Amino acid sequence: MPSRRENASDYTVHPANWERDGAALANVRRRVFIEEQGVPESLEWDGEDARAFHIVAENTSGSAIGTGRLLDTGHIGRMAVLPAWRGRGVGRAILAELLTTASQRRYPRCWLNAQASATGFYLPFGFIVDSDEFLDAGMPHYRMIHDPER
Ligand SMILES: CC(C)(COP(=O)(O)OP(=O)(O)OC[C@H]1O[C@@H](n2cnc3c(N)ncnc32)[C@H](O)[C@@H]1OP(=O)(O)O)[C@@H](O)C(=O)NCCC(=O)NCCS
Repeated sequence: MPSRRENASDYTVHPANWERDGAALANVRRRVFIEEQGVPESLEWDGEDARAFHIVAENTSGSAIGTGRLLDTGHIGRMAVLPAWRGRGVGRAILAELLTTASQRRYPRCWLNAQASATGFYLPFGFIVDSDEFLDAGMPHYRMIHDPER
């Protein structure tokens, strides 16, 4: 039984290549966003994936269990961890990798559209709420920007 906390022996987190790994990443996003949250297919597959930087989390069998992506605008998104793997630090590890990459690429600022229920996940990383609530895919969201000074 894996521990609930981050444990390098449970999973690995590393950059993915959409051409090679896209089917596995899409499977995670389909299960989380389309099947669990009811996001329409037309919104999920927005045409940005081929040029985005992706992170994949894999279990010890090499199956994708989580993902997230970064666009060259500094836009972080599509953060998804399969339900059975939540609460074990996978999402935190993915987001940390995306922020490190954005910093290495000297992107001026990272931002994201957080589901209202997930803003608390981003706050400890130094994201701050930067908008009123708005609807995206029928769900309440807030724009959050990354302030590394916080
Ligand atoms: C949001 C999500 C990516 C977080 O991934 P995760 O692997 O469960 O998160 P972690 O285990 O790394 O959690 C890190 C910390 O954030 C906290 N956290 C996790 N989800 C949270 C949430 N929705 N709200 C507030 N805090 C949250 C954890 O309790 C943990 O806190 P701790 O360090 O005090 O223990 C995951 O729950 C998910 O895929 N949700 C469904 C899709 C979704 O909502 N995506 C985000 C769209 S904006």
